[in-house]
Amino acid sequence: MLADKRILLIIGGGIAAYKALDLIRRLRDQGASVTPVLTRAGEAFVTPLSVSALAAHKVYRDLFDLTDEAEMGHIELSRAADLIVVAPATADLMGKMAAGLAGDLATTLLLATDKRVLIAPSMNVRMWDHPATRRNLARLLADGILVVGPNEGPMACGEFGPGRMAEVPEIVAAIGAALGNGPLKGRHVLVTSGPTHEPIDPVRYIANRSSGAQGTALAAALRDLGARVSFITGPALVPPPAGVAVIAVETALEMADAVAAALPADAAVFAAAVADWRVANPAAQKMKKDGTGAPPSLDFAENPDILARVAQMGAGRPRLVVGFAAETETVVAHATAKRARKGCDWIVANDVSPETGIMGGAENAVTLMTAQGAESWPRLPKVEVARRLALRIAEALA
Ligand code: CTP
Repeated sequence: MLADKRILLIIGGGIAAYKALDLIRRLRDQGASVTPVLTRAGEAFVTPLSVSALAAHKVYRDLFDLTDEAEMGHIELSRAADLIVVAPATADLMGKMAAGLAGDLATTLLLATDKRVLIAPSMNVRMWDHPATRRNLARLLADGILVVGPNEGPMACGEFGPGRMAEVPEIVAAIGAALGNGPLKGRHVLVTSGPTHEPIDPVRYIANRSSGAQGTALAAALRDLGARVSFITGPALVPPPAGVAVIAVETALEMADAVAAALPADAAVFAAAVADWRVANPAAQKMKKDGTGAPPSLDFAENPDILARVAQMGAGRPRLVVGFAAETETVVAHATAKRARKGCDWIVANDVSPETGIMGGAENAVTLMTAQGAESWPRLPKVEVARRLALRIAEALA
């Protein structure tokens, strides 16, 4: 996937530096060449010898190394690569990059380069959440720096939260995508997300508790693997991701039309919590109390099952159709039946009973149901579920 690509890898000083060794191996396995740069702080975590042995390349460490300047100046070094990757990118390195400092070899290369830069942040959760890091991240994103991770999870320092460096396969996928070479390059993937609002009258509607977080994370993960994503979203709580085509809808009927208009697609993922029924005749004016104390009666009409329609459409059907099943009991049995009834290839089933805190929360515990059976994943951040699912989709379309 990365044949003949030249990666300049800057290894910063963080505990995740050990993962950079594996990253070098994986990149070379994929045909890339890796020119390593080790910061002074990075040397405290991995040795120059192990880095150069794995990279089969001299490791650059010092700006004032005259031999290096004779062989290859720092300007040339910063430009000879196809992509610069910083892993781990510490809070300190991110701060220096955001400020445009160039006090050592790594920062000088980052300032002198005319190539794209991808960073894999890694730090303690408090440092990641600190306003200074948020500011630096916003600056770097505005400067066009690409970012992969960090993930949420247990950290070496014993705390839990976002700050853990992205896993090596994720960094490799992000590198592929940054080089226009992600596994989903050239693929069109449609994602539905969020709740739908079904009007009762001009000011009232029927809705559900979906935040759109899982669908949004999935659209971002698919984009990161190089897919062209059509993101059809109801009124969600979380903002849509950048870099995808956003089609905002309100009702199930609008969502069904938007899905039909966005086809054909290589894969379609239905993460939206679509209302099963709509009010048959929404009132044209705001409904008023009639003074009798009697509640209004509403007539309902069934909404089209968008997932089932696409899964059973015959010609023009996406190669992979994935549905979600939100259940509150006997999850696997219900999801198995749903997969057969709807005719989709996979069902991502989750338990949304209130005690799980999944609906509206940051985590998800899913069971992936395929023709091969049920596969239960551990409870993971929704972003992580999205990354794993996107990688599986990429495998299925390969
Ligand atoms: N879905 C859809 N259109 C609908 C209803 C559901 O596309 N009108 C999709 C959802 O996006 C999800 C899947 O179908 O991918 C499962 O939806 P769910 O509401 O959990 O299942 P239902 O078909 O409503 O079955 P039940 O009410 O029995 O749970």
